[in-house]
Amino acid sequence: MSTEPVNRLFRGDMLHVASLLVPGSFRLIYLDPPFLTGREMVGSKKHLSYDDRWEGELDSYLPWLKERLQAMFSLLMVDGSLVLHLDWRASHYARVMLDEIFGRQGFINEIIWHYTGGGRSKTRFSCKHDTLLWYSRSARPVFNIDAVRVPYKKTSGYAKSGIVAASGRHYKPDPRGTPVDDVWDIPIINPLAAERVGYPTQKPLALIQRLIVALSNPGELIGDFCCGSGTTLVAAQKLGRSCVGSDISQAATACAAARLRNECGFAEVSVTEVGGSR
Ligand SMILES: C[S@@+](CC[C@H](N)C(=O)[O-])C[C@H]1O[C@@H](n2cnc3c(N)ncnc32)[C@H](O)[C@@H]1O
Repeated sequence: MSTEPVNRLFRGDMLHVASLLVPGSFRLIYLDPPFLTGREMVGSKKHLSYDDRWEGELDSYLPWLKERLQAMFSLLMVDGSLVLHLDWRASHYARVMLDEIFGRQGFINEIIWHYTGGGRSKTRFSCKHDTLLWYSRSARPVFNIDAVRVPYKKTSGYAKSGIVAASGRHYKPDPRGTPVDDVWDIPIINPLAAERVGYPTQKPLALIQRLIVALSNPGELIGDFCCGSGTTLVAAQKLGRSCVGSDISQAATACAAARLRNECGFAEVSVTEVGGSR
């Protein structure tokens, strides 16, 4: 069976979902899988939860992840990009796996998402960043850097008057701001934020929107196969991209469907059941 991959939401194991889709059709896949926390992740609404406990820990988690990353690679266009979102627990293992799957030349960036808020550790430096690994099948993936410029720092002397080089050439600040680098300061979703839906580890729209704008063009196809509350689907819709989402949890797909109705004005969102378990 081959499923037309535009604006679809599936419930089931991403591996099974991937097998139903057209290989080579996605411009960008964002993947935010369980992080190997060893916990059941429960949101602010109790029925919204997912299991991140792994019997044998790394021994079961890493093969599980690798098989799914290989499936993601096959779904990408020949110049498509994958962004894998993890943290200190597994990002270093995943990077080695992705080097194997894409080839070392497929590595483009390690983006550090830095945030503040939450508790502080007294026994080590507080962990306040996640790692987003960007790989591409091509040496020249879509990269719209000018579309995601950020304001210059208020303290920047360059922003005020630019700089005059030894050659006498005057480099002036760009009115569009400065190109963003690989450390992104974006706040986590605060408890009172309008976008908060109560799903555990829901990611901010601002983070996903920046990735989509930079790494894809309007009209192209984005995938998120661990979509949780549907952040990527909502961001893609708002930015004029098509999107395929999936999650193994019924509570997650119900939440994502509700967001597409409430935040994107969809009259109806159907969820295709494909089954499978983690
Ligand atoms: C970190 S959360 C994603 C959060 C999401 N990015 C958001 O903003 O709400 C990870 C998700 O992966 C899902 N998941 C776990 N195993 C899966 C599998 N085999 N196939 C598809 N989804 C899976 C979980 O149900 C959970 O919703």
